[in-house]
Amino acid sequence: MNILDHNPAASEFGFLKAGEQPPDFDPYPLFHKLRSRHPVWHSDWGDWYVSDYDSVNAVLLNKNCTQSSPSERDLQKRLNPGVAGIIPSFSNWLLFLDPPRHTLVRRMLMRLTRGLSLKGLRGLIESVCDQLITEQSVGQGGGSCEFVSQVAKRLPISVICKILSIPECDRHLIAQWSNSLKRGFDVGLNQLSHEEMSLLDDMHAYFLSIIENRSWRHSIAQNELGAYVETFPKDEVAANLAMLAFSGHETTVHLLTNMFFILSQNPGIWQQLKSSPHLTANVVNEALRHQSPVQKICRTNTFPIELEGKQIPEGEMLVLLLGAANRDPRHFDDPDKFDPFRSDNKHIAFGVGVHRCLGDSLALLEANTLLSTALRHWRTIDADPAGVRWISNSSFRGLDRLNITWTV
Ligand code: HEM
Repeated sequence: MNILDHNPAASEFGFLKAGEQPPDFDPYPLFHKLRSRHPVWHSDWGDWYVSDYDSVNAVLLNKNCTQSSPSERDLQKRLNPGVAGIIPSFSNWLLFLDPPRHTLVRRMLMRLTRGLSLKGLRGLIESVCDQLITEQSVGQGGGSCEFVSQVAKRLPISVICKILSIPECDRHLIAQWSNSLKRGFDVGLNQLSHEEMSLLDDMHAYFLSIIENRSWRHSIAQNELGAYVETFPKDEVAANLAMLAFSGHETTVHLLTNMFFILSQNPGIWQQLKSSPHLTANVVNEALRHQSPVQKICRTNTFPIELEGKQIPEGEMLVLLLGAANRDPRHFDDPDKFDPFRSDNKHIAFGVGVHRCLGDSLALLEANTLLSTALRHWRTIDADPAGVRWISNSSFRGLDRLNITWTV
């Protein structure tokens, strides 16, 4: 008998479990039910689900709630011997480190994604956006395209490959590896197939080999990446290049698709933006809140904690539902409404605390620039709901198909 048959709460919330979402699943009605009845819920399968804004923040700001990547030793035990080689790579990801090592690596990587480097990328982002929008075929008075593949997937990958100095001919590899990683974040690495795990092995080998490549080293010698490669151990650098290649594009693609989909359904907002283009930043932020590209992140509590009156013993897996927290009515009026004019949009789509996203400014710049460019060229946009498909993944929210039309 299925485990869900025994427990009414579990059967109701079973869709929260990794890998259980049906295609085109809309998680928000479930999030509202869970948050109002059990804001901190001990699931039947053992993990604790945290869905209200204040508790999610409290966990992320609690230094006794650390990153929960399974230890190398645990994973080695659980994985098939043939695929265990990749594990050291993940334990070196900045995202899975705890202080003090985390602090050191983060300081170094921050120089790549924020500050001066970001200024230098503005021109590139503008020209890629211009090219992507203007190269779409335009017929009489308008045009159409499949936005995910023709536009959204092409901008962030160009930008992150420029930052990491990855040759254009290798971009398709990054996209392929990202698919395996995305599934790994959904169902867990130990559930990946042999084929997917060996792709991730190839990914690590690729980044190790690129570090040894003389012309690549020459291309980065004068910038922040050069300093990182010179100072840190090779295995660690390779792991973090892979992490940046993945996190630098996958989530941003989702932001772009979600935002353009929402705008295609809100023609009034598109018209307002055309006459007040300075409001694009509000729209981008509201898209991050309303359809958060990262829906859940995890932590482990190294000491017993109390949340919403629930005693949680040490060493538990805490699943923090960012997507649910960003629709918490105690913090956002009418939370299901897409309202770019909210006065105090303190969404937590980029996380909170020591692991807050390092690419936040970059993602905002890309999204703002693409939106501004489209606004200059397109008079209206529309999407037929039949041409829209949401990805099925418990960690990420985005579209893998969005057929849009526009007028000029
Ligand atoms: C809309 C786009 C993005 C969203 C929604 C997003 C979301 C997030 C979230 C929620 C976290 C925190 C994870 C945790 O606490 O467990 C995070 C961390 C991170 N993100 Fe992003 N991200 C985006 C874009 C980017 C980009 C463009 C880059 C790189 C260029 C990037 C690099 C990182 C890195 C390196 C971390 C780990 C930081 C640390 O552990 O200290 N992200 N991101």
